[in-house]
Amino acid sequence: MVATPVKGNRLTLQVADIATNTTAIRCLDWDRDRFDIEFGLQNGTTYNSFLIRGEKTALVDTSHEKFRDQYLSQLKQLIDPSEIDYLIISHTEPDHSGLVKDVLDLAQQAVVVGSKVAIQFLEGFVHQPFEREIVKTGSQLDLGSDHLLEFVNAPNLHWPDTMLTYDWGTQVLFTCDVFGMHYCSNDLLDTDLEAISPDYRFYYDCLMGPNARSVLSALKRMDKLGEIAKVANGHGPILSYNVEELINRYRTWSKNKTKAEKTVALFYVSDYGYSDRVSQSIAYGITKTGINVEMTDLLAADQQQVRELVEQSSAIVIGMPPTSGDKATEASATLGTIIASVSSKQAIGVFESYGEDDEPIDPIKTRFTDLGLKEVFPAIRITDTPRETTYKLCEEAGTDLGQWLQREKTVKQMKSLDSELDKAMGRLSGGLYIISAKKGDLKSAMLASWVAQASFDPPGISIAVAKDRAIEALMQVGDQFVLNILEEGNYQHLMKHFLKRFKPGADRFEGINTQTAEHGSPILTDALAYLECEVVRRMECSDHWIVYSKVTNGRVSKPESLTAVHHRKVGNHY
Ligand code: FEO
Repeated sequence: MVATPVKGNRLTLQVADIATNTTAIRCLDWDRDRFDIEFGLQNGTTYNSFLIRGEKTALVDTSHEKFRDQYLSQLKQLIDPSEIDYLIISHTEPDHSGLVKDVLDLAQQAVVVGSKVAIQFLEGFVHQPFEREIVKTGSQLDLGSDHLLEFVNAPNLHWPDTMLTYDWGTQVLFTCDVFGMHYCSNDLLDTDLEAISPDYRFYYDCLMGPNARSVLSALKRMDKLGEIAKVANGHGPILSYNVEELINRYRTWSKNKTKAEKTVALFYVSDYGYSDRVSQSIAYGITKTGINVEMTDLLAADQQQVRELVEQSSAIVIGMPPTSGDKATEASATLGTIIASVSSKQAIGVFESYGEDDEPIDPIKTRFTDLGLKEVFPAIRITDTPRETTYKLCEEAGTDLGQWLQREKTVKQMKSLDSELDKAMGRLSGGLYIISAKKGDLKSAMLASWVAQASFDPPGISIAVAKDRAIEALMQVGDQFVLNILEEGNYQHLMKHFLKRFKPGADRFEGINTQTAEHGSPILTDALAYLECEVVRRMECSDHWIVYSKVTNGRVSKPESLTAVHHRKVGNHY
């Protein structure tokens, strides 16, 4: 048993055999900051690398550069690097490929195995010649001693370079980001399904959900492999006890997403500037509204597919590509195809990639608006290195676009139901509350009415939060927030303020008197009472999340007053 390290000493290594001749080197990053959108639950992460030893030896992925000394020293204890025959690259983001150059310096004989796109990306940052072997779905590599590897391309999960590797001998599937989660613990395997489930879901929603169609295509290709005994993912515990269950969750979630009536085509350049993270945040915001997103790399796009995708989409979102170099020519060709395929009924959204030589945003935006496309959110101009608040702004811009696309459906839904059932539902009454939350640099708030006490010990409450609410991302398991209870006869100004439509990234508390709770969330000074809460569990219920939270503190500031009550006539809207 390894003790959980104390804060301040939070980069540790775990090495363990997970199958015959197969060793996991797990780099445990206990305090990874939440600077990427998918790090919503603040449980740290791990970067998993694997060594397979047949007659030949293969290393599957490396690690983040912050583990350089620990990882390389461990690798050298396991094997003489000059004996590594293959370095298999599943995906080239720096958390897995940050040490590729270092490994190649030690293992110059190693042949780098990857998808065509992965090898191209590697050339961009390794800056030294290396032996390579480009593989695609169905390609095999025999390491001997019953380790026959077969590769499966999984483009757009979540980059176009992604590739899975299946070992027919051990039935281990190496998946890198796919089926991963940002969950750091000493558990090598998925022994605690309940504990990892919220992280597994949030990670899927942020990284894989915006590519749901690609997820289903990859699952179909995986069906041709043998039985999968273990999923050796790149983040979190390795899947062993719940392989079928957790793979099937991807299937179910992705099927649900692709059933959406409308699709947004989102174009970006995956290895340029911050284009991928910014576009993921926008995509996440869009999918929260029940709209499907198809993300496409401007540089890895088939022109015919681009044409078809654009024609069937309700909106187009484009990240600015670079103005110079090879990439510019390729991106410009795809941009031309997009422009030739759009129609005036569509919406358009544009954003900067914060690369060194982004295309200027206005001329491109104007080309679309001149063709009659509606600009739904203001062009996202990133003037500084993206931070949490930048990603939140992007997410909210995406939600605005999704809600705009759903507007007719929403109005129709409000008008269509006028049945007795609906009138009866309207007789359910609730109080009036403002939920306020702060997480890192992010703050948000929402007016709530579907709130109920849910337990005595510990004191607990349940709140129904619509999936497309901005604050929803700040109410993940373990997050803290304040429930402000409004006062009868003295709530109109607060209700009016928090009901208004805020621009993406706007400060919800500007002009509102607040104090600060111990954990940082704002407390509304004009509220009748407040409860400080911590999210314990979430249950998905159609268009809402039911969030169960324990109450850790509370105070009534006006003991003589009553709680404001919300009376409705019908139950088909708030
Ligand atoms: Fe874990 Fe996309 O890198």
